[in-house]
Amino acid sequence: MASLVWTLTFVGLAFWQVQHLRAVTLELATKEAKANFDKDQAFRFWATQYGGVYVPATEHTPPNPYLAHMPERDIVTDTGRELTLINPAYMLRMLHEQYGDLFGVRGRIVSEDPLRPENLADAWESRALQAFGRGETERVEVTDLDGQPHLRYMAPMVTEQGCLYCHGHQGYQLGDIRGGVSVSVPLQTYMGHERQSRHVTLGSLGAVWLLGLGGLALGYRRLRANDLQEQQSRRALQVANEALQAHAVQREQLMATLVQSNAELTRLGEVMAHHFMEPVRRLMSFSDIVKKRVPTLEDEVACHSLQFIYKEAERLSGLVREVQRYLSLDQLEAGELQSVDAMAVLQQAITDVGLTYGETVVVEASLPPLHFDERRLAWLFFIVLDNARHYRHAERPLKVRVQCVVGTDTCTLRFVDNGIGLAEPYRAQAFDLFTRFVSSDRSGIGMGLAVARRLVQQAHGTIHMEEGDEGGCCVVMTLPLAAS
Ligand code: HEC
Repeated sequence: MASLVWTLTFVGLAFWQVQHLRAVTLELATKEAKANFDKDQAFRFWATQYGGVYVPATEHTPPNPYLAHMPERDIVTDTGRELTLINPAYMLRMLHEQYGDLFGVRGRIVSEDPLRPENLADAWESRALQAFGRGETERVEVTDLDGQPHLRYMAPMVTEQGCLYCHGHQGYQLGDIRGGVSVSVPLQTYMGHERQSRHVTLGSLGAVWLLGLGGLALGYRRLRANDLQEQQSRRALQVANEALQAHAVQREQLMATLVQSNAELTRLGEVMAHHFMEPVRRLMSFSDIVKKRVPTLEDEVACHSLQFIYKEAERLSGLVREVQRYLSLDQLEAGELQSVDAMAVLQQAITDVGLTYGETVVVEASLPPLHFDERRLAWLFFIVLDNARHYRHAERPLKVRVQCVVGTDTCTLRFVDNGIGLAEPYRAQAFDLFTRFVSSDRSGIGMGLAVARRLVQQAHGTIHMEEGDEGGCCVVMTLPLAAS
């Protein structure tokens, strides 16, 4: 489309240029014709002014037979020289006949009613004369003359006073159109120039046109390439998108499976806990009965065994209870997260665990309100403090320091104790289910910190363990602050 517009533009431009060149040629030729005409006219007027001029009568300038009626056509000077009268038309005719080759422009005086038959207007001239009779003042036209292109120019000759001297007898009046001057300029040289200019112009136009076409083609190709690239990237994007969607579907399926497995596992856990609880209770009550019935058992081994059975049953019962509690964490309705007076909850937890506020437990900075569920926060503090109490050092009194640093959205709580501590490699595992690192002579089943981690995570906080005082433990929690 663009190349079509481009081409049309150039065709138009070329056409206009050719027209312009032709107009220039005609203008130049017309100028030349007019110049010649004006010069001839000047001569003619000059001669008319004197009613003609006298020249020596020779072979080249014989007396004009058409002036035969003039009384003084031929005169002889005192010294015997023969002179003859030359009328303007005759003068110019001779000029053109003898020296016409000098300027190559032919000019002559014509009429439809000539004195001299050779001065009869030709077809073109007589059309022009008729036009002058209707008031036209000049006529220019390109026609063929002797098979060659010529620019023909013609202007009327109006009868003036001086003309009547010789033409008066023909019955002309002042102001009549006596005839016309016809000038023809050969166009060959002009046309040669025109052709050359046309070639140059069309050549350069063509070159520019070709260049433009090339540019357009190049631009088009680049556009196409861009288009192709865009298509490719769009396709790639689509593929990626589809893959992503497939991935999402897969993930959803996976999630569904996970939720289901989780539900099944929870259910299994509950069933197991329930079914374990019953035999454990029986085990305990029966071993109790046996212990009461046989208070003084002779057999020492049997006595020990009985005690062992009772202790293990007790442990089992504790274990089952804790599993039940852990499982119930998920089932407790999520609990409203709200502003909780953490300080009060902490003090209550200290009392519940059996420690003393300000003595075994020193709160170094008062706690701000937290964004938490109150029951869960109480449980969390209880677990952490109970853990400290549980793993206290045998040789020194327990000391727990509670530190608190308030940040922008969260606050970091540190429970630093001086208990038996936990070696670095085990600290992360401490929060896993059923992990215990101490000999079994201490009670506890290793679920406390796992529950604590769950509680913290449910409130979108974090928990980890560092080293405490004198090789003890330090539980670090980051918990969300209540919105102020
Ligand atoms: C001295 C006399 C003389 C004067 C002045 C003169 N002419 Fe002529 N003219 C002639 C003669 C004689 C011819 C015809 C023979 C020839 O061509 O020489 C002629 C020819 C012509 C012709 C050509 C047609 C034809 O009849 O052969 C025209 C047109 C013409 N004259 C116009 C004029 C005009 C217009 C003037 C005034 C500006 C003028 N002449 C002044 C003598 C004269």
